[in-house]
Amino acid sequence: MSLTNLSDGLPADNRPAAAPAAGLPSASTLSKVTMPALAQMKRQARPITALTAYDYATSRLVDEAGIDLILVGDSLAMVVLGQDNTLAITVDEMLHHTRAVRRAVRRALLVADMPFGSYHAAIPEAVANAVRFVKEAGAEAVKIEGPRTELVAALAAAEIPVVGHLGLTPQSLLRMGGYRVQAKTADAAAQLCAEAHALAQAGAGALVLEGVPREVAARITAELTIPVIGIGAGPECDGQILVLHDMLNLTFAPHAKFVRQYADASALIREAVDRYREDVEQRAFPTDAESYHLPAAETGAAFPAATSGAAAARG
Ligand code: KIV
Repeated sequence: MSLTNLSDGLPADNRPAAAPAAGLPSASTLSKVTMPALAQMKRQARPITALTAYDYATSRLVDEAGIDLILVGDSLAMVVLGQDNTLAITVDEMLHHTRAVRRAVRRALLVADMPFGSYHAAIPEAVANAVRFVKEAGAEAVKIEGPRTELVAALAAAEIPVVGHLGLTPQSLLRMGGYRVQAKTADAAAQLCAEAHALAQAGAGALVLEGVPREVAARITAELTIPVIGIGAGPECDGQILVLHDMLNLTFAPHAKFVRQYADASALIREAVDRYREDVEQRAFPTDAESYHLPAAETGAAFPAATSGAAAARG
């Protein structure tokens, strides 16, 4: 190994200057985000940016925008596949999307959500499922919900970086009876702090805290040495994550309080599709300039122009 290629492992502060024109995203201006780099960002108090993404096009845009962590979240069951919750999505479906994201992402740390049922039984089976995300889809870490310290330790021993997820854990929907803010009493908050410490102790490389009071997230963030990435957990977390479709208004549902809408992709797409429909209906698309033509030598007697049938009927 050449020492000249060694870096401090930190993602560069400077974001890519401009999107590459075509082909693969340029990696030349990018410094790859790794799990140790995230920990270093926490030590240096540099905010960690994270978003979900589920396909090639949007992942590429998110990566090129300089987001540090891309999560192929099981939220894709709802926002991409139109399911009511995240419970039905399978390992194979998650792998399919993770592969698409892998093809696009050059700089961000790529984390894949392990779906409900894929890590809830025996630990060897859970580890085998996690290995599939690394081997078959190129994930650089997996995320699991709940205070599963034994599994986190087993994954760490298998060299698979793990992101824990505590607080409002959507895969616990049936037990929780709905999506509710968690840790709202002093006892529940203390329990959540203990669980966060236990996950970090077991070897989790980072923690997502979802739907918890700001004060609780702030204390956990201050106490843990691993990065804490919040969603609906207030501004003191080491980083923030949002579901991409929420912040782009592509979810067809009222947003939670913590979602800030950064663009209205629904309006943009509706408007573009409306204009296209109108243009086709009015025969304004395609124009001659948007059509291919026979070479002159092939027209005339060689290939007479249309004079009858539908074209003629239209006049
Ligand atoms: O699946 C998902 O999108 C998530 C985020 C909300 C953290 O788990």
